[in-house]
Amino acid sequence: MSIKFNENNNVFILSTKNTSYIMGLLKGKHLLHLYYGKKLSSFPNNVESMIPSRLSASGSASGIEGGFSSDLLPTEYPTYGSTDLRTPAFHAVYEDGSATTNLEYISHTIYDGKKELSGLPSTYCESGDDVTSLEIKLGDKRTRLEVMLIYSVYEKYDAIVRSVNFINDGYGTINIKSALSQCAYMFDKDFDIVHLSGGYGTERLINKTKVSHGIFTVDSKRMSSSHHHSPFIALARPNVSETEGEVYGFSLIYSGDFIAGAEMDTYDNIRINMGINPFGFNWKLEPGDTFQIPELVSIYSENGFGHMSRCYHKLYRKRLCRGKFRDTHRPILLNSWEACYYDFNEEKIINLAKKAKQAGIEMLVLDDGWFGKRDDDTTSLGDWYVNRKKIPSGLGGLADRINSIGLKFGIWMEPEMISPQSELYKEHPDWCIAERGRESSLYRNQLILDLSRTEVQDFIINSVSSVLSLGNISYLKWDMNRNVSEKGSQNLPVDRQQELSHRYYLGLYRVLDVISKQFPNVLFEGCAAGGGRYDPGMLYYFPQYWTSDNSDAISRLYIQYGTSLVMPSSTMVTHVSSSPNKQNGRITPMDTRANVAMTGQLGYELNLLELSDDEILQIRTQIDAYKKYRDTVCFGDMYRLKSPFESDCSSVSFVKDDKSSVFVMICNSFVMKHLSPMLNIKLQGLDPKGVYVSDDGTMAYTGEFLMNRGLYFADRRDYKSEILYFEKQ
Ligand code: GLA
Repeated sequence: MSIKFNENNNVFILSTKNTSYIMGLLKGKHLLHLYYGKKLSSFPNNVESMIPSRLSASGSASGIEGGFSSDLLPTEYPTYGSTDLRTPAFHAVYEDGSATTNLEYISHTIYDGKKELSGLPSTYCESGDDVTSLEIKLGDKRTRLEVMLIYSVYEKYDAIVRSVNFINDGYGTINIKSALSQCAYMFDKDFDIVHLSGGYGTERLINKTKVSHGIFTVDSKRMSSSHHHSPFIALARPNVSETEGEVYGFSLIYSGDFIAGAEMDTYDNIRINMGINPFGFNWKLEPGDTFQIPELVSIYSENGFGHMSRCYHKLYRKRLCRGKFRDTHRPILLNSWEACYYDFNEEKIINLAKKAKQAGIEMLVLDDGWFGKRDDDTTSLGDWYVNRKKIPSGLGGLADRINSIGLKFGIWMEPEMISPQSELYKEHPDWCIAERGRESSLYRNQLILDLSRTEVQDFIINSVSSVLSLGNISYLKWDMNRNVSEKGSQNLPVDRQQELSHRYYLGLYRVLDVISKQFPNVLFEGCAAGGGRYDPGMLYYFPQYWTSDNSDAISRLYIQYGTSLVMPSSTMVTHVSSSPNKQNGRITPMDTRANVAMTGQLGYELNLLELSDDEILQIRTQIDAYKKYRDTVCFGDMYRLKSPFESDCSSVSFVKDDKSSVFVMICNSFVMKHLSPMLNIKLQGLDPKGVYVSDDGTMAYTGEFLMNRGLYFADRRDYKSEILYFEKQ
């Protein structure tokens, strides 16, 4: 059992392979966080000896004897109203207008395995997994609110996951203003906050800032996790490297508005709050109702960012992603978007497919523009019927023609959106998110459907399943291209308008659950104007995600490196596109574009009809090579060897679980101010005694040599790159 309760000292100990997470009951009532970090073999007997017993300026808390001020206590799930005046994890207003919540311990249970979260994506376990769960019930006597803190320990993944369920066991309505998934503590101030921020085409760049007094927050109010910030932060010791130093990672399994904040108090303790963004949020909990909030995954690493990321990768790849594609290779695809945008007809798609087949590509994906009257982005979202002028054979007929060339066929949809110029809008103008009496702002000429409405959810389920049933469709790219504005539902009552963002996600998650179960053989790829909603919540439904609309290989060095802090390579879609690049005009060699794309799910996104025979042959060679490497790349352990954020190149490697092979990618970014020295890259994670032989048979080194002496990369010209692959003899 990786969770134990010691009745003698009222202490809960949660243990993973390398970490301990410890909570205790002060005076048998108040649940405190006592420790999280490197695994401990013993722990002091007395909870009181672990906490500061001085008074703070905010006074001692009523109901806590012994002079403790809750402003100093590391309360495991802090609430608003008593003497703890830091940002609480929970804040509610009760029917009588009062706003104080005092949670005391009621009971707990420990059990093997893990329960599903109702209506929300979450990690899961399979039979034989080493997973143990703990539920601690707390309650507020006056209002009869019950709060169930739920923890599960994934022992071998070094992960602790948690969520909270609220039960209104009282007689009045509770207005929940803030209900976060976690509050964590650092007991000293010597930390940096590392977070992933960016924008369209620059998703998930690594940012680092020193924690100081006050509150540092990243969040989203965009009704999606967004391009701008990711639902992830890490608290890291200064100068932590990939291999050394303490890091605490916190990753939220949620796709809507979130907040992640670190608050340093006057006593130099840091509190980390994370969960649904309280901004613009109010959830009415009626008597008898329950409210489940999203799950959060914490990973502690004393071996730098590398170990933290590998734990996230394994857990998310194996116990968050689902379905038949979780453990299998995905077809290598050609996407029509950058090849032709809206300018295509059936014959052009067929010609592309023929060329794709020649190049060794396995699937043709028809992106935006096949439906309604859509020849640009001004119309037709919501009108999910085929434009027969462009595709006379219909989707089923086109699928058959493409299949007969020897390729699978996939399509693009943006099911959550509606164009004001559409049949759907004429029929149901009230189905979109809008505020009464206020004009709605358009972005990309579109509005968002109100997924809090069951009839809208059903419409989406029906339209997507009708399209997928039109023929032999093997893949769907599910896009979502705008942020919210004028956020109102024409269906929800006035006093529930502030539930819209979260209700939207409950609706979307229901839709995705139904569709992904109805079409288990269809490969779903998520997309949100690139990687705008590439978050763990989405991975529960989509085993892969379009990382960014910026397909330039050099920009991708940064975007993919940042993304890899949390997201596994098996989920990261990486395409080879044309040069000059369509987004930023950069000119890069073909082999560099392919080498960078080979560190994820390789695909192609360019007009093959414009390529020479020689270039088509190059693609064929790349695909043959990738087929040899992809087991290692997609299902191996990732080691980041050189950061583009800290050097003039990027290098990442992947080592198969049993250490039998290693794939290395090295790519220069901006080296050429002067002539640069050679680069030495030391590998990691190999069997020291094993002899690793390169795939062309020209190099053979021991793991020990590769990890200590390293490999030289001599060509330091801008954008030059190399891939290496070794197998253990
Ligand atoms: C978004 C996606 C692109 C493409 C277009 C189509 O921008 O990120 O990959 O599918 O929509 O309109």
